[in-house]
Amino acid sequence: MFKLAHISDVHLGPLPPFKRSALLSKRVLGYANWRLNRKGDLHSGVLGNLIDHTLATNPDHLAITGDLVNLALPEEIELIHQWLTGLGAPEDISVIPGNHDTYVPGALRRIIERWKPWMQGDKPVAGNPFPYRRDRGAVALIGTNSGRATAPFLATGSWRAQQDSDTSEMLQRAKADGQFRVVMIHHPPFPNATAQHKRLIGAKRFRRMIAREGAELILHGHTHIVSDERIDGPDGPVPVIGVPSASHGPRLTPSIGRPGARYNLFEISGNQGAWRCRQQQFGYGDGQQKISELADDIIAIAGQNAADE
Ligand SMILES: [Fe+2]
Repeated sequence: MFKLAHISDVHLGPLPPFKRSALLSKRVLGYANWRLNRKGDLHSGVLGNLIDHTLATNPDHLAITGDLVNLALPEEIELIHQWLTGLGAPEDISVIPGNHDTYVPGALRRIIERWKPWMQGDKPVAGNPFPYRRDRGAVALIGTNSGRATAPFLATGSWRAQQDSDTSEMLQRAKADGQFRVVMIHHPPFPNATAQHKRLIGAKRFRRMIAREGAELILHGHTHIVSDERIDGPDGPVPVIGVPSASHGPRLTPSIGRPGARYNLFEISGNQGAWRCRQQQFGYGDGQQKISELADDIIAIAGQNAADE
C-alpha cells in the first residue's frame, strides 16, 4: 500500500522584504490583490498545522500542485527553497508550478533553478524538466507545468502540443510498466472548472490525451475549493481531484468564501486491473479551529475488475 498526500496553493506568506522596483511589472496588480484578498485569510499558522498533521499520517510521498508563492519575487522563490528543504527529502516530495510561480517572465527559469530537486524525474534532464515521471513503488507520478507568465488580470494556464505529446508517451510507458498513473496539473482540466480569465487554455487537448491514454488519478489545485470531478478515459471515468489552499484559514460561515485548508490522503493498493484507492480528507471544517477528518471514500478507478477488499 502506498500513501500519497496531496496539498496545493501554499501561497507562502507573509511576503518577505523585497525591492519596491520589483513591483514595476504585473506584480504591482498582484501585490494590490494580495493585500486586499489574501493577506487576511491566508495564514502561515494554518499551513504549519496542516503540514504537521499531514506528516503525522506518515505518507510515503507528498504531491504539491502549484502556487507555492504569491508574486514570484526572487525573495519568495528563495523562501520556498528553504521551506521545501525543511519539509523533507526531494525524492519524497513532488512539486509542480502554478500560475503564481510563473507570474512574470523569467519566473519559470528561476524556480527551475531553485526548486528543481523537487520537480524533476527519476532521469533528470537539463533545463525545463516538464513533464517529469517519478516511480515510487507501484505509483508513477507525472508532473506537468500548466503555468506561464500572462498579461495582467489573467491567471490562465496552458496545455500545449509539445507537453501533450511528451505526457502521452509517459502515460503509455507507465501503463506498459503496470503503474498506477497519477497526473499532477495545477489548472483543473474539466469543462467549466473556472472563470474564463483563470481557465486552462488547451483543456480540450488535455482531455483528448486522457481519453486516449487514460490515467488512474488526476490531481490539481488553483481553485482553492474541494473539487471531485471525472473526465473520460478509455476504460471509463478518470477521477480529477482538487484540494483547497493549504494556507486558508477556516471559514466561519459555509458557502461564504473559500473553505479552510485541507489535504487529501490517498491509499493506493492492488495492481493493474485491480487497483484500490481510498481518499481521506483532513482539514479545517467550517467553523472549526482544529483539523479533523472530513471525508473517507473509496474512489472508483476506471477499468478495474474488482476492488481487492
Ligand atoms: Fe493558481
